[in-house]
Amino acid sequence: MKTIVFLNNKGGVGKTASVTTIAHMMAAKYGKKVLLIDLDPQMNSTCMFSHVNFIELFHSIYHGTCINKQKSIEDLLLNRDLDIHKCILHTEYENLDIIPSHLTLSEAAERIKADVKTPQQFRLKGHLKSLQQEYDYCIIDSSPSMSIVNINGLVAADEVYVPLRCDGGSLLGAAIIMNLFQAVSEYNEGLKIGGMFFTQWNGRKNVSKAVYELLEESFGKYMIPVSISTSKNIEESSLVQIPLLAYDDGRNKCKTTMDYLKLTEYILNNSRS
Ligand SMILES: Nc1ncnc2c1ncn2[C@@H]1O[C@H](COP(=O)(O)OP(=O)(O)OP(=O)(O)O)[C@@H](O)[C@H]1O
Ligand SMILES: [Mg+2]
Repeated sequence: MKTIVFLNNKGGVGKTASVTTIAHMMAAKYGKKVLLIDLDPQMNSTCMFSHVNFIELFHSIYHGTCINKQKSIEDLLLNRDLDIHKCILHTEYENLDIIPSHLTLSEAAERIKADVKTPQQFRLKGHLKSLQQEYDYCIIDSSPSMSIVNINGLVAADEVYVPLRCDGGSLLGAAIIMNLFQAVSEYNEGLKIGGMFFTQWNGRKNVSKAVYELLEESFGKYMIPVSISTSKNIEESSLVQIPLLAYDDGRNKCKTTMDYLKLTEYILNNSRS
């Protein structure tokens, strides 16, 4: 199993759009057995694939009532004796499973940090060992932060991909992730930069060219020659909780779907080398 994390501590750069689209494409179009892990307490990837009941969730948060919730990534990170299989949900899509997140994951992060008995960064990596023969790919979505939960994702990963938008915040995010990569590589020696790519790309804007040139200068060898164009289908598909390729099914594939198919193919080829 190859483990790939999508990381940028800048918010809204397309981490979730990329993870949900690419994980589903790997499973549906390329027949890979894929496990998606949601490391973000915002639960955006989880919502796409597990039909979260928002009304039940609303009441449980507002009234502090306990719902009988599916075991999530939080349980896994807090309990090293838990069998990871108990946290895996099968999605309605063949070959695609998910370990969901829950809103309380950010509180759990504090508990992980407070527990000094077990190494904090290696919890996910430890659990994933038992799945090595069961999946071809593990694709990890992360939150826009430098949390211990995200570090667990980076430590468990073989490759990191950095989605970017053409703005200053994304530039800073790229610099921060590259520094983090250096630090984590000291104890996850096999970790590779898979690459950086633009989302919500509009090559006609001057700012796009300026940001592209700046990144090319510093990180040229990591820039992926595929950019993801903007499409309303991404927002529409996330609203109805259907991954982009399935949403496009039966109609003309939009440019963004074609871009993501190219990127998925790039990642599959890249992870073989
Ligand atoms: N290619 C695209 N075209 C149009 N809209 C997009 C595209 N990619 C992402 N979006 C929209 O931009 C917003 C942010 O995208 P997304 O949630 O994937 O970012 P993120 O990096 O996961 O954010 P966060 O850091 O909050 O988790 C969403 O509303 C999403 O629907
Ligand atoms: Mg997200």
